[in-house]
Amino acid sequence: MKKLAAGNWKMNGNRAALAEVAALLAAHPTPACDMLLCPPTTLLAEMATLAQGSALKVGGQDCHAKTFGAHTGDVSAAMLVDAGASYVILGHSERRADHGETDALVLAKAEAAIAAGLIAIICVGETEAQRDAGETLAVIGAQLDGSVPANATAAALVLAYEPVWAIGTGRTPTLNQIAEVHNFLRARLTAHIGVEAANTRLLYGGSVKPSNAAEIFAVPDVDGALVGGASLKAADFGAIVAALT
Ligand code: 13P
Repeated sequence: MKKLAAGNWKMNGNRAALAEVAALLAAHPTPACDMLLCPPTTLLAEMATLAQGSALKVGGQDCHAKTFGAHTGDVSAAMLVDAGASYVILGHSERRADHGETDALVLAKAEAAIAAGLIAIICVGETEAQRDAGETLAVIGAQLDGSVPANATAAALVLAYEPVWAIGTGRTPTLNQIAEVHNFLRARLTAHIGVEAANTRLLYGGSVKPSNAAEIFAVPDVDGALVGGASLKAADFGAIVAALT
């Protein structure tokens, strides 16, 4: 399978930041992996125009489950497609925490995204308290069960394991802990979507940076990364892209 280096800009970046995208494309015109940036919605169309004809794909950071309607402040999957997106991140822990998103809502969004032709990147991950209580696999198993569409295919789905306590903290799980979770996710996903699970990309996210990318990518069942802070700078994200072969 083609691995995936995905960057999540979160609520960061203005139009001037698109210079980083130009620098990334100049330095990595033909990466060995798939390369994706998910900017704030305000930058999506312009970044998609910049990426046209290149190896870079662009994606949204969320979408509504409905196609259109009276939902002030929201954006639909079809609108993301119209702006040039081919992926959308769903169920990120920041949305689960900031906006009270439930597994059922993430499932509805994922179904809408896939129906609109987007690849859904569904995020799961435990809090530090849950890990300390020995609940990690139970928590992410329940999140997977509740949010992955039953008919999802490897071409339309990406799963991202993002331990909440590793996001933006500079802390990461041990390589053994990452391996344990990714192995578990592959098996659990197989129970849902059968053989498609073997080719579904499983990303690790949480404080991935140039200095730890290679060792994380060497972990079995890690098929790429979902990168926050280090995706904002072309040099850092480019180094992570280059580490993913
Ligand atoms: P950081 O890479 O900044 O820890 O963020 C990870 C993340 O939440 C990506 O979605």
